[in-house]
Amino acid sequence: MTIISPSILSANFMQLGAELENLKPEKDVWIHLDVMDGHFVPNLTFGPTVIKNIKKHTEHKLDAHFMVNNPEDHALWFSELGLYNFTFHWEAVTHHDSLIQKLKALYPSVGVSLNPSTPTTIIPDYLYKQINLVLVMSVNPGFGGQSFIEGALEKIHELDQIKKRLNLDFEIQVDGGVSDKNAQKIIKAGATNLVAGSFVFNEPNSNYSGQIKKLRG
Ligand code: DX5
Ligand code: ZN
Repeated sequence: MTIISPSILSANFMQLGAELENLKPEKDVWIHLDVMDGHFVPNLTFGPTVIKNIKKHTEHKLDAHFMVNNPEDHALWFSELGLYNFTFHWEAVTHHDSLIQKLKALYPSVGVSLNPSTPTTIIPDYLYKQINLVLVMSVNPGFGGQSFIEGALEKIHELDQIKKRLNLDFEIQVDGGVSDKNAQKIIKAGATNLVAGSFVFNEPNSNYSGQIKKLRG
């Protein structure tokens, strides 16, 4: 089943407990946490204090997407929060190999995110063999509610080919502008994990279960 990762960036921050409660019965759902530092991206979001409280209110896996400069500075202290997956941006790091080794010792799952203009060929095969997830940004990172960039489909397909060629099973996660209008073609291209912020949380009756079903088609 395709994993759906609702991004709480579009949730009601004054009622996060209720928002998480609403997602409780869902299967194959990760909670996507967009950590932004106001430097790598213009926006600022939340940090460990908020995540610690989220952890207390959900049994779903926590999927942290670090849109920060120097993600290596956060590897250790966030590891006490019970995150399942730690995704960093390839563009924000110089010593990729070193950071991946460090994260693998601290987290069950390690992800690498590629901005829309960063090609899949930038990651060498030997590192594809070590990571658990590749996040394809299908918008420029920083804000929810933007339009899907169609060029992401080709990258998803390329990653699917890389998985087949190297006989790997890393998650192909797609983040930005995902809705019921494009989910099927994104899945068909090879995505195994869809992040959706506004499509899930902006549903006027808070029928998140219905929105998640629509994404799976
Ligand atoms: C954007 C974030 C996304 C964002 C997606 O930089 O990484 O996770 O919440 O929001 P939608 O689904 O509204 O495009
Ligand atoms: Zn994200």
